Amino acid sequence: MELNGKDRVWLEESLEKFLIKMEWVSEKSKNKIPSTTVNGEHDDKSIGGVSGAFGDGLNWWTNGFWGGMLWQMYHETGKERYAEIAGISEKKLDQCFMDYYGLHHDVGFMWLPTAVADYRLTGNGESKKRALHAANLLAGRFNPSGRFIRAWNDGADKDTRGWAIIDTLFNIPLLYWASEETDDPRYRQIAMLHADTVMDIFIRPDGSSNHIVEFNPENGDVVKTYGGQGYADGSSWTRGQTWALYGFVISYRHTRKKEYLDIAKRVANYFIANIPKDGLIPVDFRQPKEPYWMDDTAAAIAAGGLIELSKEEEEWDREVYFNAAIRLLKALTDHHCDFTKNSDGVLTHCSGAYHATEHHVNLIYADYFLLEALLKLKGNDYFMW
Ligand code: GLY
Repeated sequence: MELNGKDRVWLEESLEKFLIKMEWVSEKSKNKIPSTTVNGEHDDKSIGGVSGAFGDGLNWWTNGFWGGMLWQMYHETGKERYAEIAGISEKKLDQCFMDYYGLHHDVGFMWLPTAVADYRLTGNGESKKRALHAANLLAGRFNPSGRFIRAWNDGADKDTRGWAIIDTLFNIPLLYWASEETDDPRYRQIAMLHADTVMDIFIRPDGSSNHIVEFNPENGDVVKTYGGQGYADGSSWTRGQTWALYGFVISYRHTRKKEYLDIAKRVANYFIANIPKDGLIPVDFRQPKEPYWMDDTAAAIAAGGLIELSKEEEEWDREVYFNAAIRLLKALTDHHCDFTKNSDGVLTHCSGAYHATEHHVNLIYADYFLLEALLKLKGNDYFMW
């Protein structure tokens, strides 16, 4: 799809501001692994080592996105400096492999935008080793009775052996990559069994998705569902909808299984039908009027998924998905972007969860997905997934 003249100007201006910001932020935060901003400064998840069963330090699930932004910059500009800085966080993550207990289902988010990107863009053999190691850890979480990849690890008072979550659909591209790289189908087979379960059990007839489904870990029966990071059980956590939307497009890309494209369209149609008038996305499409929290991460991820979906479609649908993506991105650049030096982050209205203690903050993966989507519109993104 081609942008019209006005939209092209908007894209060029937005990207220019983003690229200028990345030039100074990348140097300022070169030794950090940021996840958010505190008083305008990037925090640093690489301080203090790995942590507990759910991962909150070096094994925090978002720790690949800073590297991802740098690899997108390297791909866009060709400047070696971005590859050098990306390499710093990639190496720091090695400590997570040593202290394996903190690792989880989100290893795809951690090593696809770091080690896999490094290997594919530069041929770095050490990076390939890291990425295959991460893929084996993810494959090892597969439960054959329930045909799902287990989420999280047991907490002090929680038995999560049977838990699966929608987010994992966006981690299985690591398994597709591992099969493509090694020519061993096991990884892809596990990924597809998991994706099939998500298609059958998570996605509701209206196109919305559950966040958490608990299975009996012995026989695979569904036990119950949970609202997770959304408002409540039965609600519609928007970031979860986007992991499903974009995630199924990716699964279709790697497998060409038509049902994945069909389900991606069902989720996309549901998502588009629920976009508010102002184009800004709430944390949950079924949240109450008060408190009304927004989440820019969902808008940015959805935009990327819709752009990719538009590439797969016939003329009419193509326009619907493409135009919805532009609407989401323009709402973000018009209202929620900080390109100034007042903050190391860009997007200002992100929320980790509806019931989180903080809302409308910067989150690194929102910035990653916004950069990725703008580069997609330019026709020059590195396809990370
Ligand atoms: N993967 C966790 C989240 O989306 O918040």
